Amino acid sequence: MADTIENLLHEARRFPPSAEFAANAVATAELYERAGEDRLGFWADQARELLHWHTPFAHTLDWSNPPFAKWFADGELNVAFNCLDRHVLAGLGDRVAIHFEGEPGDSRAITYAELLVEVKKAANLLTALGVGAGDRVAIYLPMIPEAVVAMLACARIGAVHSVVFGGFSSDSLRSRIDDAAAKLVITADGGFRRGKVSPLKPAVDEALQDGAHTVEHVLVVRRGGNDVAWTTGRDLWWHDELAQVSDEHEAKPFPAENPLFILYTSGSTGKPKGILHTTGGYLTQAAYTHRNVFDLKPETDVYWCTADIGWITGHSYVVYGPLANGATQVLYEGTPDYPALGRWWDVVAKYGVTILYTAPTAVRSFMKQGRHIPEDRDLSSLRLLGSVGEPINPEAWIWYREVIGADTAPVVDTWWQTETGGIMISALPGVTTLKPGSAQVALPGIEVDIVAEDGASVGADEGGLLVITEPWPAMARGIWGDPDRFVSTYWEQFATQGWYFAGDGARRDKDNEIWLLGRVDDVMNVSGHRLSTAEIESALVSHPLTAEAAVVGAADETTGQAHVAFVIIKDSQVDAAAAEDAAEILRQHVAKQIGAIARPRQVFIVAELPKTRSGKIMRRLLRDVAEGREIGDTTTLADTQVMSIIASTMK
Ligand code: WT7
Repeated sequence: MADTIENLLHEARRFPPSAEFAANAVATAELYERAGEDRLGFWADQARELLHWHTPFAHTLDWSNPPFAKWFADGELNVAFNCLDRHVLAGLGDRVAIHFEGEPGDSRAITYAELLVEVKKAANLLTALGVGAGDRVAIYLPMIPEAVVAMLACARIGAVHSVVFGGFSSDSLRSRIDDAAAKLVITADGGFRRGKVSPLKPAVDEALQDGAHTVEHVLVVRRGGNDVAWTTGRDLWWHDELAQVSDEHEAKPFPAENPLFILYTSGSTGKPKGILHTTGGYLTQAAYTHRNVFDLKPETDVYWCTADIGWITGHSYVVYGPLANGATQVLYEGTPDYPALGRWWDVVAKYGVTILYTAPTAVRSFMKQGRHIPEDRDLSSLRLLGSVGEPINPEAWIWYREVIGADTAPVVDTWWQTETGGIMISALPGVTTLKPGSAQVALPGIEVDIVAEDGASVGADEGGLLVITEPWPAMARGIWGDPDRFVSTYWEQFATQGWYFAGDGARRDKDNEIWLLGRVDDVMNVSGHRLSTAEIESALVSHPLTAEAAVVGAADETTGQAHVAFVIIKDSQVDAAAAEDAAEILRQHVAKQIGAIARPRQVFIVAELPKTRSGKIMRRLLRDVAEGREIGDTTTLADTQVMSIIASTMK
C-alpha cells in the first residue's frame, strides 16, 4: 500500500516490551535459539508439547516429494480430542470455551464440557447421515457456536469441512460444493445482521435447485427464526436430529496427514482454489502461534478474534488454535456498529477481553468514527492487540495502541495466508521491540527471505519478493483436485531454489526487518479479504450488457484497497441502459454472482480500454485513473488517444 511506504518515514517511534510484560511473557528469546540450532527438532518438540498424540510420531518431516510435505506422518491424533476431550480429562471442563454474543444481545456461555457434548452428538449425527472419514461437508453458517460445533464434529470423525463464508452467493456456494463433491451441507435459516435476519437457507436451496449435485442432506440450524422453504427427505433440522442421537462418542485417532479442511481462496486467475490442510502439522502451528504470538495465559485471558469462520483467520484463530490451547474466547455474531457505534467496545467491556485480534480496515474505520467512542468504554482489560489481513499503516498502528491499548498494549502485526495455515511473520510481544507498520521478523521455526526475481537476497532498504525458504508444519498440502496448479501457482517462480512464492512484495529495512508492501499479482485485498480481478471481470462479462471489462485495485482509505471496474457496454445494448443505470446494474450483478464483498466500489462505463498492440489490457493506466493520479506512460498503447478519452469520461 502506497501510504505505508510513505508513512513509515514519518513514524520513528519504537516500542520495546515493558519490563513487566517481558518478565511474564510466554515466549522468550530462547525460542529463536532453539529453533536456530535444530529447526525440525524444535517443531517436533512443539508438536509433542502442545498436542496429544494417540500414536507418537518418529518422523518429523518427509520432504522427499516437494512441494508436497508430510509432517509427523507416522503419528496419529484426533483434532477434536485435542481441542476438547483432553481439556475436560484434565479437569478443565468447567472453563468457558466460548462466550457467545449474538447481535440482538442474546448471550450464552459454553464450557469445554458442554462444547464436547455438542460435538459428540454432532459427530454421531454426521455418522448417522452417512458421512465418514474423508467425506466432504460444506458449512455455510453465521458466526454462531454451531459453526464451531460443526467444524469440530467433522474433525472428530475424520471428515473434511469446507466452510463457505455466509456472505458468498448461491453461485459461489454451488461451485464450492461441486468442486469438493460435498455430501452434506450445514446451514442455518438465517443470522442476524444490522438488526435484521439475513437469510442463508434460500441461497442453499438456489444452489441445489438443479438436481445434478452430490449433496444428500441439508442440516439447518435454527437461528434467525425466519420461515424457510423445505425439501422433504433432504432437509433436516439440526436441533431435531441432535435430540435423537447419543452424547457418547469416542474420538478415534487418524494419521497426521489426514485432511482436515478445504478452504477456497481467490487466485490471480480462474476459479477459486481449494486450499487443502491436514491435521498434525496444521494443529501444531495453530496452537504454537496462538500461544506465543498472543502471549496466551489460558487460565486468565479472554481472547477475541473478530474474524468470521468463513476465512482462514477464523479457522486457525477462532477454532483450532484457541481451542487446542484451552483458551476462553468471545464469539460475536454481528457487525461493529449495530445497534450503535461502539458495539465492539461494549463487548470488550462486558467480557473483560484481554487479547483482541482484528484487521487494519476495522481499526481505520474506528479512527474515522472518532476516539470518543472507545474512550467512553472501559477497555482497561485489554493487554495485547493483534492485526492481520493487510499492512497496517503506522498511523492506524499508533491509534490502535494509544486509543484501544491505553498506550501500553503491544500491537503484533501478523503476516500469513490461507496457504500458510498459520502466522509466519510477527513480533513476539515479550521479546521484540515493536516498529509500527512492519510485520518485522519470521517466527522461530520459520525461514523467509526477500529476494529479487533471480533469487538473490535484497539488501537493506531494498524491496523484492517475499519467499518462504523452508517447509513449515501448517503449509498447504495442495489444491483440492489440482496438484499441478499448486505447483505452478506457488513453486514455479523459484523452482530452482525450491522456495514458496507468497505473491507479496516486501522491503527489508536496516535492521533486517520486513515490511509487507501488498500483492504483486492480480489479487486484491479489500478489507482484508482476498479477491481476484479475474474473478470479478468474469462476473461482469457474464452480464448481457457487458462487452468487455477490466478491474483494478485502487487504494482506499478505509478498506485498504477497493476495486474499480471499467466496462464497455455492447453496441446492441447501449440504448437499453442509460450509462448510470448500467453501472449500478453491474455492481449488483457482481454482488449476486460472487457475494456482496465483491461488489465494485465504482463501475465506469467507457468506450474503450487501454490495450497494448498485443491486446493486453494495461491495468497500470486504469489504476492511475481509479486513484485520481496523473496518467503514466502511454506510449506502448495501440491507440494512444484511449486514455485521454477515458480520463475525460471520468470528469
Ligand atoms: C494475503 C493473504 C492471513 C489471514 C488473512 C488473509 C495479505 C495478510 C498481512 C499483514 C500485510 C498481509 C497478504 C497475503 N496479508 N496479513 N499482516 N501485512 N499483508 O488471508 O485471504 O489468504 O490473504 O493477505 O497480501 O498474501 P488471505
